[in-house]
Amino acid sequence: MGKLKILLLESIHPVADGLLEADGFEVQRAQGALKEGQLCERLEGIHLLGIRSKTQVTKKVLDAADALIAVGAFCIGTNQIALDHALKRGVAVFNAPFSNTRSVAEMVIAEIVMLSRHLGDRSREMHQGVWKKVATGSREVRGKTLGVVGYGHIGSQVSILAEDLGMKVVFHDTAARLPLGNSQPVKSLDALLEQSDFVTLHVPETPQTRGMMGAPQLDRMKKGACLINASRGTVVDLEALAQALKNEHIDGAALDVFPEEPEANVAEGFETPLRGLPNVILTPHVGGSTSEAQEAIGREVSASLSRFAHTGTTLGSVNFPQVDLGRTPDTWRLINVHQNVPGVLRDLNKIVSDRGANIHSQVLSTNAAIGYLIMDLDSDVAGQVVDDMHRLSTSISARTVA
Ligand code: NAI
Repeated sequence: MGKLKILLLESIHPVADGLLEADGFEVQRAQGALKEGQLCERLEGIHLLGIRSKTQVTKKVLDAADALIAVGAFCIGTNQIALDHALKRGVAVFNAPFSNTRSVAEMVIAEIVMLSRHLGDRSREMHQGVWKKVATGSREVRGKTLGVVGYGHIGSQVSILAEDLGMKVVFHDTAARLPLGNSQPVKSLDALLEQSDFVTLHVPETPQTRGMMGAPQLDRMKKGACLINASRGTVVDLEALAQALKNEHIDGAALDVFPEEPEANVAEGFETPLRGLPNVILTPHVGGSTSEAQEAIGREVSASLSRFAHTGTTLGSVNFPQVDLGRTPDTWRLINVHQNVPGVLRDLNKIVSDRGANIHSQVLSTNAAIGYLIMDLDSDVAGQVVDDMHRLSTSISARTVA
C-alpha cells in the first residue's frame, strides 16, 4: 500500500506538515476553505482531511469521499462537520479542545493585575490626553484570594500561576478535583464568593452553568471584589453585573465571552450592557487566540490523526467510541467499523477462524450507532480477513494498519 494521503486546508499551522511527513503521510495543501463541490472532487483518494472552522464537511462531502477515514478539526469547535453522518460513514473526527489552555490562563492572570490597578482606565485616559496619577483603589494582588469556579484544564492552570504571584487560591468544582499547589477546595459556590477578592469562571456551558452568576451571586461577592469570565457568555447575567458595577459593589470585571457573539469581525455596533463602565475590560473572545495555541493545535491534531491512522487508537475522537490497544510484536492488526446490531462480533470472529488465524487480542467499544473494533491476529492474514469483512452487510469499513 502507498503512503496515506492527507489534505490540509485553511492555513493550518505549518508545524503539521513536518510532523505528518515524518510519520509517513503524503501531505497535500489547498488554499482557504473549499466549497462543497470543490471539496467533493478534491477528496478523491484522500485518507485524512485537516480543516479549521470555515470548511463545511457536509453529508454530501462525506458521501463523495471514497477513501476518507478521519477528519481533523484543527480548532476547538466541530459544528462545521456533520458528525452523525461521519459516524455512519466510519469517519472519525478529532479536534484540539485543550491546546489553548495556557493562553487563556495567562490572559486571566494579566486581567487580575489590570483590574486590581485599574490599568484599563489609566491607559484609556492617557490615550485621551489625560494624566491622572492616583493610588486610591489600586492594590497589589499578592496575598489576595482568588476564587476559581471550574477547576478543569484552564481553572487549574490559573490556580498555579496565581499562586506564583503570591495569591491564595480557593476553588469550587462539581467534580472531585485534585487541588494543585496550596489551593483549597471550598464546599459551595456561595462559600467561594464570600471569601474571594477575585472570582474567575472556567466552567463549560451547561443548563446548570447558564446564568450561574446572577444578581444573588454577585451580591454574595465581597464588596470591592472583581469578576472575570473567559468561559462562556451565558454563564454571567450581564445586566445584573452592570448593576453591581454601577452601585460599586463590584470594583471591576473582565469579559472575554458574551451571550451573543458576532460570527465575523464587525467594525462597529457591538453592544453589551457593560460598554463604557469604569474598570471593565472587554475583549472579543481572544483568550485562546495566540500563535502558540495555533501551533499546539497543529501538533495535537496531527498526533491524533497519525495515531488513529497507524494504530487505530480513537482516544480524543469527538464522535467515535474511545478505544486503545497497545501493540504486541509479531501480531497483525486490523480495524473494523460496523453497525451496532446484534451478532456482528460473532460474524467477525468466524471470519478469522475460517482463515485459520488466532486472535491475539481485541478490543471493541460501541455507541448507539457503531461498533469499533481493533483486532490483533497472530498470523499474517489480516489483509484477507479485511477483504472478507468488507463483504458483511453490517460492515461500514475495515482496514489493516502497518
Ligand atoms: P474543562 O472541561 O477542562 O473544565 C471545566 C470544569 O468545570 C470541570 O472540572 C467541570 O467539572 C467543572 N464544572 C462543570 N460544571 C460546573 C458547575 N456547575 N460548577 C462548578 N464547576 C463545574 O474545560 P476547560 O478547558 O478548562 O474550559 C473551561 C471553559 O473555558 C469552557 O467553557 C470553554 O469553552 C472555555 N474556553 C474559552 C476560551 C476563550 O478563548 N475564552 C478558550 C478555551 C476554552
